[in-house]
Amino acid sequence: MLSFAVIGAGRIGAVHAATVAAHPDARLVVVADPYGDGADRLATAHGARSTKNVAEVFAASDVDAVIVCSPTPHHVDHIVAAVRAGKAVLCEKPVDLSIERVDACLEAIAGKEDTVMIGFNRRFDPTFAEIHARVGQGEIGPLEQLTIISRDPEAPPASYIKDSGGIFRDMTIHDFDTARYFLGDIVAVSAVGQHLDPAIEAAGDFDAAVVTLTAASGAVATIINSRHCAAGYDQRLEAFGPRGALEAKNHTSTTVRFAGGSGSDAAGPYLDFFLERYTEAYRGELSHFIEAISTGTAPSPSLIDGREALVLADAATTSARTGTPSRLDRVATTA
Ligand SMILES: NC(=O)c1ccc[n+]([C@@H]2O[C@H](COP(=O)([O-])OP(=O)(O)OC[C@H]3O[C@@H](n4cnc5c(N)ncnc54)[C@H](O)[C@@H]3O)[C@@H](O)[C@H]2O)c1
Repeated sequence: MLSFAVIGAGRIGAVHAATVAAHPDARLVVVADPYGDGADRLATAHGARSTKNVAEVFAASDVDAVIVCSPTPHHVDHIVAAVRAGKAVLCEKPVDLSIERVDACLEAIAGKEDTVMIGFNRRFDPTFAEIHARVGQGEIGPLEQLTIISRDPEAPPASYIKDSGGIFRDMTIHDFDTARYFLGDIVAVSAVGQHLDPAIEAAGDFDAAVVTLTAASGAVATIINSRHCAAGYDQRLEAFGPRGALEAKNHTSTTVRFAGGSGSDAAGPYLDFFLERYTEAYRGELSHFIEAISTGTAPSPSLIDGREALVLADAATTSARTGTPSRLDRVATTA
């Protein structure tokens, strides 16, 4: 049984607080957020205490582990403070918006890296994990192409976009991690950004993108992103090899289909947004974290995996802005 604090009581803080509260091997002790009444509301809903003073979390003797759900610019400070206080950390993506700050974080916690996990929850989605396992068992032969489609139903508010670091560091970062998870080290990145929404362009960002990643093995991943999808939260993945393909389609609210004289129709709408679509992934991610910390093994994805996804995001940002592909000098890393 691990006792948890959640820092940041916004959209993803609410997901993690509920996931911890429902987990048989976890206990939610405290929710911290300096602003608004989010911490109070979440703590009350899940039988925990709340505080506006984040430092109380690090000082609390009844907290074993911290889930960092604050805005991205605070992640590194919260990771370092928690690790120095002897707490294990599950930190939301991205680690930070700057490689230099991620490196400073790694230096500050040197020797304790194995107590930190990064929340690339899609690795724990049962359908993606099944495809990953079956590719690993050689079912379709060596992976030649990976296609990831990830479109949000609608864009977050302009206030979020402004500080998000841009679509590649904020949104595509999940897909960069998924691509590394399947393909290992990436050696070249080519990206095209689209300006379809004038409000997002005014905030200095792209709102849709297509990225190709070339792996050291020669396999290629294609990532397709959009901030607005009329059909809902569009999350698909296909792995393709010489002996076949494995495909994860969208999850829908029902799998029942109608067929009649007037035609046949599809099942209900796509499960809407990350809370519903990835509920099992957040649960699996938490279970893996608890198991790793409780047994003293390194959780994965690691801080290094978080750094590597950010390297790809930086390369994609440069490629989309300059119209030229980026080649990467790779050092072998975990995936
Ligand atoms: N893995 C996923 O599926 C996923 C989904 C959404 C967001 N995220 C990530 O989670 C993080 C938070 O995103 P969000 O959508 O929940 O944002 P949000 O704006 O909804 O919530 C952020 C919360 O942090 C609080 N906060 C602000 N400054 C703080 C500080 N110094 N210390 C503690 N709390 C502070 C805010 O008051 C707010 O309640 C971001 O890094 C984002 O990239 C991950």
